[in-house]
Amino acid sequence: MSAGANKIALSLREVHKSFGEAHIIRGVSLDLSEGERHAFIGPNGAGKSTLFHLISGQFKPSSGEILLGQQPIGGLAAERINRLGLARSFQITNIFPKLSVYENLRLGVMQRFGLQYTLWRPVSGFSRVRELTEQLLEQVRLTRHRDTLGGELSYSEQRSLEIGMTLASDPKVLLLDEPMAGMSREETDYTVDLLRELSAGRTLMIVEHDMDVVFSLCDRISVLVYGQVVATGTPEEVRSNAQVQEAYLGTEVNV
Ligand SMILES: Nc1ncnc2c1ncn2[C@@H]1O[C@H](COP(=O)(O)OP(=O)(O)O)[C@@H](O)[C@H]1O
Ligand SMILES: [Mg+2]
Repeated sequence: MSAGANKIALSLREVHKSFGEAHIIRGVSLDLSEGERHAFIGPNGAGKSTLFHLISGQFKPSSGEILLGQQPIGGLAAERINRLGLARSFQITNIFPKLSVYENLRLGVMQRFGLQYTLWRPVSGFSRVRELTEQLLEQVRLTRHRDTLGGELSYSEQRSLEIGMTLASDPKVLLLDEPMAGMSREETDYTVDLLRELSAGRTLMIVEHDMDVVFSLCDRISVLVYGQVVATGTPEEVRSNAQVQEAYLGTEVNV
């Protein structure tokens, strides 16, 4: 954790979400410190993606509070939450396959400045956009692919591009939903390294199934089972928690 730790970046207070009769998120409370890297693990259907949708504004909580720093954000529109400093990626890769890598990133940057209609904007605006797009290209290590179409990148490069687009708004808090899903061991290692770099100075919340990744990347872990956090702690604490072993980890992890 970076200096300035213990200032709270994100708080969940008794957050609930029901879809009709189905009570999916059942009272989640959690504080994330600034600079913390926090993993969510838990079985399929536990509610991890739903929780991310609630935080990023795709869904409104049925009850409870979500705060970004001091600011209540529960129920605000996704775009508003993004402007307040929180960005997220989705479980499914979300890029523009027919646009080049550069154009994809530039779109992200333009959105940050609200430049949907660029034709009548002053040239000074463009050079700032260019500069930031170049920076992002380098940060996600795709400079050599700047003119490659998004759809022609390898799978893991597409995910790097997507992470770049997520970073275009320069978020304080970054939510990534299974960014390494479907990657080879080598691609996973590469992406973990990239994420370590890119999350520096930010707060990271990540859903990830690969225990090696979780244990090596994250400061703390929360285990979500049937919409409730059954344990939160350091990797060591979670690893040795009997309830967690029973509920989720089974024999997959050496304990
Ligand atoms: N929009 C929705 N309407 C109804 N049920 C939903 C909706 N979104 C998710 N669910 C349900 O919520 C539960 C948790 O899903 P999800 O958050 O995707 O789990 P996870 O990401 O942990 O695998 C599942 O039972 C799923 O069917
Ligand atoms: Mg999910």
